[in-house]
Amino acid sequence: MAEQAETTAASGGSAFAADVRGRCAIVTGAGQGIGRIYALEFARAGASVLVSDLDGDNAESVASEIASEGGRAVAATADVADPESTAAMAAAALDAFGRIDVLINNAAIFTPLGRCGFEDIALDEWEAVMRVNVTGSMLCARAVLPVMRAARWGRIVNISSSTVPLGLPYFLHYVTSKAAVIGMTRAMARELGGDGITVNAILPGLIETEVDNPGRTDALRQKVLDMQCIKFLGEPVNLVGMILFLASPASGYLTGQSIAVDGGAVHL
Ligand SMILES: NC(=O)c1ccc[n+]([C@@H]2O[C@H](COP(=O)([O-])OP(=O)(O)OC[C@H]3O[C@@H](n4cnc5c(N)ncnc54)[C@H](O)[C@@H]3O)[C@@H](O)[C@H]2O)c1
Repeated sequence: MAEQAETTAASGGSAFAADVRGRCAIVTGAGQGIGRIYALEFARAGASVLVSDLDGDNAESVASEIASEGGRAVAATADVADPESTAAMAAAALDAFGRIDVLINNAAIFTPLGRCGFEDIALDEWEAVMRVNVTGSMLCARAVLPVMRAARWGRIVNISSSTVPLGLPYFLHYVTSKAAVIGMTRAMARELGGDGITVNAILPGLIETEVDNPGRTDALRQKVLDMQCIKFLGEPVNLVGMILFLASPASGYLTGQSIAVDGGAVHL
């Protein structure tokens, strides 16, 4: 409550609004797709954004897009699976903005993956998915931890997937990696709660972006739509309200949770 009251005094607004003004958010995998929208919306909400991606050109382009709207952003080329790279990413955010309040662990190997029986998944592809989607999220959290600990405040938001509760078949490496993210979220929340750092996960449903996704058929779209309570296919903007909430003081009593943002297709 003290934390929320402080925000109210500073902003003159409701203590319960998802206020991220003046915060610094690192968004990984922000060069395209959903991550790009998170980065744009954090900036529009008044946060400074470290736009991070393995594809540095894409990261630069999103940072420029934010700057052209009058927002504050810097780009970093970072491989979340490489500890030196994640350390450099955190240093870049600190250097540019002097703080790191929020980490959105969005980077993943996702759209390039095909669908097949698990007996046909190449072992090196399996290992790459685990390395980026699971180890990468841990490494990014590790990189920002000293700064958040020192500030006794932080928000880590991990991106899982509603394919986990659905047990979506023929995508075993991806689904397994996103299930690990839920376990990581729970255990990390217990480790960090005493430091004023919350750790939560969202499970997006089927989200349409500008990126081609060969594994996504019209039959799958229809199946998902049939399962949803809300009858439209999700777009990245449909995730933003929950992301900003989890990144803000308004969610200060919530940690270790995994929340499906998927039009009600699954109920956890
Ligand atoms: N789109 C959906 O329907 C959906 C549903 C559920 C969950 N998700 C999750 O949401 C997130 C974003 O999804 P998307 O649709 O935008 O995916 P995407 O494949 O379009 O984007 C992933 C981004 O991560 C980056 N990336 C990949 N490997 C990286 C690495 N080693 N280091 C740093 N960056 C790396 C890519 O360059 C890319 O910019 C992912 O975690 C995905 O698993 C997406």
